Amino acid sequence: MLIAPSILSADFGNLAQDVKAICEGGCDFVHVDVMDGHFVPNLTIGPVVVEAVAKAATKPLDIHLMVENNTFFVDLFAPLKPEFISFHIEEEKHPHRLVQKIRSLGIRPAITLNPHTPPEAIEFLLEDVDMVLLMSVNPGFGGQKFISSVLERAQRLKALIEKRNPNCLIEVDGGVTDKNIRLLEEAGVDVVVAGSFVYKHPEGVKTAIAALK
Ligand code: DX5
Ligand code: ZN
Repeated sequence: MLIAPSILSADFGNLAQDVKAICEGGCDFVHVDVMDGHFVPNLTIGPVVVEAVAKAATKPLDIHLMVENNTFFVDLFAPLKPEFISFHIEEEKHPHRLVQKIRSLGIRPAITLNPHTPPEAIEFLLEDVDMVLLMSVNPGFGGQKFISSVLERAQRLKALIEKRNPNCLIEVDGGVTDKNIRLLEEAGVDVVVAGSFVYKHPEGVKTAIAALK
């Protein structure tokens, strides 16, 4: 299982140290939640802060856009050379075009699905993406309760991926802990995002990442 801690639960007063700590603690990606206050009822960080995150990180960035104007934000973050940029299917009229654009910028495209969106909605995009992010909470905040129907969605997505693009990864984001990660793995999930479990762990981020692994 690949682990992508979400810096949304980090201490923003000590952001560089908190980014270094997860990289040194054995994470695989640094998950960056970008919220615009329109698509979701919360506002986070822009390119100035993400540039500082990129400078501190020794692991690749996984940028999760939760915004209304996806193309604008892709252009804004592309110069930081993240590994992945994902956008929400619910907020994009031309997802196929945007996937091509992200790839043409040298970034691996990913698509995110809210808790209500069935995997079948993106069956004919699977050939063109490198990862699908299934939300297991409503996007907007860290520390929410895991929505367990994501397990069935992951299983259904896995079957579609095997048919259309076996190299495509499945990522799950929201409410992931050492208690539900095994169920996620059994459902075919490759990457988990974990915010509060990693950053609020009483024994520190390294122990938290090891517990998830
Ligand atoms: C929610 C974000 C998540 C969030 C996860 O909109 O996409 O990445 O930080 O936090 P936890 O792991 O605490 O649910
Ligand atoms: Zn996220």
